[in-house]
Amino acid sequence: VFIILTTAHDPLTVNVGFSILAGITTWSAIPALSEIFLKAGLKGMDLSKRTKHIIPECMGMVAGLIYLVTMFMFIPFPFMTWFTASNDGDHQELKLLTFPNLKLAELLSALLSIQSMVFLGFADDVLDIRWRFKMPLPAIASIPLLMAYWVHLGVTYIVVPIPLRPILGQLIDLGPLYYVYMGMVAIFCTHSINIMAGINGVEVGQSLVIACSIAINDMIFIQSASSGAPAIETHLFSLYFILPFIGVSLGLLIHNWYPSKVFIGDTYCYFAGMTFAVVGILAHYSKTLLLFFIPQIFNFLLSAPQLFRLIPCPRHRVPRYNRQTNLMEPSRVVLDEEEDLEPDFSNSKLDSKLGNRQGVLGRSASSVSLSSAGATAPDADESHTKPSSSAIGESNNLLLTTTTLLQDFRPLKNSKLKRSGWYCVKILETLGLTHVRYDAKTGKRPLEMTNLTILNLILLKTGPISERNLTISVMVVQFCCSMVAFFIRHRLVAFVYDV
Ligand code: UD1
Ligand code: MG
Repeated sequence: VFIILTTAHDPLTVNVGFSILAGITTWSAIPALSEIFLKAGLKGMDLSKRTKHIIPECMGMVAGLIYLVTMFMFIPFPFMTWFTASNDGDHQELKLLTFPNLKLAELLSALLSIQSMVFLGFADDVLDIRWRFKMPLPAIASIPLLMAYWVHLGVTYIVVPIPLRPILGQLIDLGPLYYVYMGMVAIFCTHSINIMAGINGVEVGQSLVIACSIAINDMIFIQSASSGAPAIETHLFSLYFILPFIGVSLGLLIHNWYPSKVFIGDTYCYFAGMTFAVVGILAHYSKTLLLFFIPQIFNFLLSAPQLFRLIPCPRHRVPRYNRQTNLMEPSRVVLDEEEDLEPDFSNSKLDSKLGNRQGVLGRSASSVSLSSAGATAPDADESHTKPSSSAIGESNNLLLTTTTLLQDFRPLKNSKLKRSGWYCVKILETLGLTHVRYDAKTGKRPLEMTNLTILNLILLKTGPISERNLTISVMVVQFCCSMVAFFIRHRLVAFVYDV
């Protein structure tokens, strides 16, 4: 690393050297700091182990700080040409005239945004900030970045895909809406990593796959662009940010991999998300960036009914650890108490039920629980009793068939689920995205369902697997989605854009 740093002439090589150094420093600093974090009360319980041991949490802080120090030390290198120019009067003047002030402003504002998110993540780890308050904060942290974008690039138009051009024209100028969109990208990138979390190594694992995909994409662009093209500069800029991130993440993953010796905390999730948002925004490829977030987009859409409280959302939705088998199983959320209420589905009352919200109770806090917190897991096959459809087969009466199907999708009068939540449960179950356990007696009342996360969905499809294999599965899914993203961005794009 020393040789690279002393002999390197171009900033990218120096950046590679710094990234290796940052990785080694993170790897060696974490064990040294673990005790200090434990003493400071920055610790968490590993939920998916036989013996519930406490390990240091918030180690993303160490990775984030080493990353920031590395980037601060790197700041002069992209501007070395101006530092090394001779100091005579003419050159001094030329230096002042040609120095890329806007580029420096971009670099500094990007670091300010990342630093703000590291700080917010740390505050969240320490204070457990409520979702409604922390949700918009990444957009606020991205304001310095958006300001630099406005001054330097200021591009607010999007290129319309070829098939839509006869209607919309070649370009659409979104104006201020473009800045709103970029603020939303920052919110999405940070929180989407934080909600795809909770098993050893999964947060850092997914971030590493995304970061490597971004780096490869940058290299493809730099290789294929003609020399001097503006794309080279923006993609180089992206690489300067992403390579040290890969370095510190690798150093962190060694300690966070199963069985974890440290947790990374919300600090790392926010730090990672903001770093991705920064490169996506400043290198002007936020759409390509979102392609690398396909699993996170899916996980967010799947989680939406719980995040927006249509369905109860427990504090932890991580898969349930089965102590007997040492394997992970989907965790469940309680929807209703097991009671002996017979639902009334007589045809005469169907219409009145449609408009009747009476008895459809809101969510009570006590109805929310997590199976992994101690409740016994229901036996999937025995307990899943779907509403009987034998009557449909026996009768050819179309009206009866329709009515029965309607009944199946009709909220129960005394269910604790709201009507909208009831429809969500039914639709998700029909799509095979959740497993619902019904009241054994009537077979109609949903009592429990698996939590709506990609981790639980993978377990539903694969059956119980170990925590380590679940993390590997998520990384494989992320890798496959990156392959799809590359195919869309570099092959399919020719059908919709002129490239
Ligand atoms: C988010 C998720 C929550 C999930 C949690 C796990 C939403 C809305 N929130 O909440 O469902 O349970 O992340 O991080 O989807 N932990 C482990 N093993 C690990 C990592 C974490 O057991 O490998 C546990 C530890 O007890 C740790 C805790 O998760 O203390 C951290 O949870 P935290 O990051 O505070 O949860 P949220 O981000 O609020
Ligand atoms: Mg978290």
